[in-house]
Amino acid sequence: MAASSFTTFTPKPTRLCFADQSMGSECFRSVSFPSRFHSLKSLESTIQVQSSRLDVMVRAGGTSEKTEVDISLSPRVNSVKPSKTVAITDQATALVQAGVPVIRLAAGEPDFDTPAVIAEAGINAIREGYTRYTPNAGTLEVRSAICHKLKEENGLSYTPDEILVSNGAKQSILQAVLAVCSPGDEVIIPAPFWVSYPEMARLADATPVILPTLISENFLLDPKLLESKLTEKSRLLILCSPSNPTGSVYSRKLLEEIAQIVARHPRLLVRMDEFEPQQ
Ligand SMILES: Cc1ncc(COP(=O)(O)O)c(C=O)c1O
Repeated sequence: MAASSFTTFTPKPTRLCFADQSMGSECFRSVSFPSRFHSLKSLESTIQVQSSRLDVMVRAGGTSEKTEVDISLSPRVNSVKPSKTVAITDQATALVQAGVPVIRLAAGEPDFDTPAVIAEAGINAIREGYTRYTPNAGTLEVRSAICHKLKEENGLSYTPDEILVSNGAKQSILQAVLAVCSPGDEVIIPAPFWVSYPEMARLADATPVILPTLISENFLLDPKLLESKLTEKSRLLILCSPSNPTGSVYSRKLLEEIAQIVARHPRLLVRMDEFEPQQ
């Protein structure tokens, strides 16, 4: 059986309870996962489960019996490689715990805590009862506030119905990739790139097409190279500016050159992953 990789680690015995429809809503079956099945931690902080079957104890109606559960992952999930960012972060944490001074350059986090004014606003919102489901796109208040910010600070006019608030860039980029890519489509990614982009393409059954850039070109995508690599399968171009990891910023002129090429390929969409410096 093929080995499966997980990036999460559950050191304690895990118990899953699920309703057994055939036995009425009152009856729950409880499945205990022995901890030894979760104890195979590799150096890269991933777990290798050597079998895609797991022995579990099933308790139902006062009896218990041993059974096997198929825990194999789908080909789609198996095609995704473990996160290098998480692996490096875990190694850095282990070094810090061992007393080694470490400058962390792995996970892209600010080097300061959440400013007090933001933390207080979050705490107050919970106290005031803002704890229920909101519209999927975000509340009208927050989308209107974003429009106001875009107008005042960036000179851009948007209406709230054009704004969608997500739980972070990772979620929204993955969902955009899943929304537009079909199996066999190509997702074009200039290198060096944020490590999640190719895995997002794979999750959509699309093929990542990596385009190298040159240090002499400030690691920015060469429009001529882009043009030479476009096919009828090219579906999405992902541009990151300022780039993680290079920090390079696309100029307006370069973006216009790229846009002219994209405009000649009606199937090709562009996903910008942009960051804005704090004033
Ligand atoms: C280029 C890039 N895009 C997206 C993300 C993910 O952002 P978020 O934490 O908002 O999901 C990161 C995080 O490091 C990133 O470096």
